[in-house]
Amino acid sequence: MDNCRILSFKDMSNKYGHLVPVEQENDVPFQIKRIYYIYGVDKETIRGKHAHRDLHQVLICLKGSVKIKIKTPNNEELYHLNDPTRGLYVGNLIWVEMFDFTKDTLLLVLVSDFYDETDYIRNYAVYLEELKRD
Ligand code: TYD
Repeated sequence: MDNCRILSFKDMSNKYGHLVPVEQENDVPFQIKRIYYIYGVDKETIRGKHAHRDLHQVLICLKGSVKIKIKTPNNEELYHLNDPTRGLYVGNLIWVEMFDFTKDTLLLVLVSDFYDETDYIRNYAVYLEELKRD
């Protein structure tokens, strides 16, 4: 899908363990203004269910696993994130749902802007309308 892809980060592993550096603009295609992380989510819970008008983000599953569905009117893709050396880049105007969290899932999200509720489209019908207007 345009505007969405898996990013691979450097894994600086040695006998002492793993280290994965992630730099803005070099490893993710934007300046990181915010991070947040999600954990302690029940298996039955579906999170997300929104699109962003302008925001870009990269989702990195640091621990456990989670499924991410990304959707546009013409396309739908499913990713199973379970590798801390990979991130799912999601551009703007893409509908995102996160589900099938394991008990130990720790999901880190790197974001291109500060939190702003007016950037969210939380209703799928409104999302479709806004795409038609673009
Ligand atoms: P929300 O984006 O709805 O979570 P998800 O998409 O993972 O289901 O955010 C949940 C709540 O947290 C909501 O009240 C907004 C608030 N929030 C912030 O205050 N700052 C943030 O950076 C984020 C991502 C959410």
